[in-house]
Amino acid sequence: MKALKMAMIGALALGVSGVATADQYEDAINYRQAAFTLIKGDFGPMGAMAKGEIPFDSKAFAGHAANVAAVAQMADNGFIDGSDMGDTKAKAAVWEDRAEFDKQMKGFQTLTQELAEVAKSGNMDEIKPKFAAVGKTCKSCHDDFKSK
Ligand code: HEC
Repeated sequence: MKALKMAMIGALALGVSGVATADQYEDAINYRQAAFTLIKGDFGPMGAMAKGEIPFDSKAFAGHAANVAAVAQMADNGFIDGSDMGDTKAKAAVWEDRAEFDKQMKGFQTLTQELAEVAKSGNMDEIKPKFAAVGKTCKSCHDDFKSK
């Protein structure tokens, strides 16, 4: 009888936490996708300026670079364990090869901070190589960890 009671309490506890975590996974997916949407929103105009498609506005560029650096720090908060299922383009590799993913994420965070720093100079000749380096981290991480 006691065992049954314990089992029922256990099942109840599991049920409750099960519901909570399903939401938690969806929240995590939305969180990281929102972070990358923000990053893209700032990175796009920076790319257009770097390519000379729109006029270089050093203040605007530095503002975008600061935003990217800040949101890059947040992006990996969304990759919690268990959030590999659902409406996500993250590959299972994120969790299967976590050390490599973390390494690339860390590199991305460091480079975006360096880009934000160099952007303050307003010197496009210095900015360009750093911008290109950040762009490479987007592509390499997407190749390894994001499905098309
Ligand atoms: C360390 C890995 C990593 C780096 C670096 C990275 N991304 Fe991503 N990105 C991902 C993953 C994984 C997803 C898929 C997220 C999901 O669907 O849950 C993603 C998704 C996206 C999305 C789609 C968001 C959505 O609404 O579904 C955009 C846009 C994006 N990234 C842009 C960028 C840009 C621009 C950069 C570089 C400035 C960048 N990413 C750098 C891993 C990365």
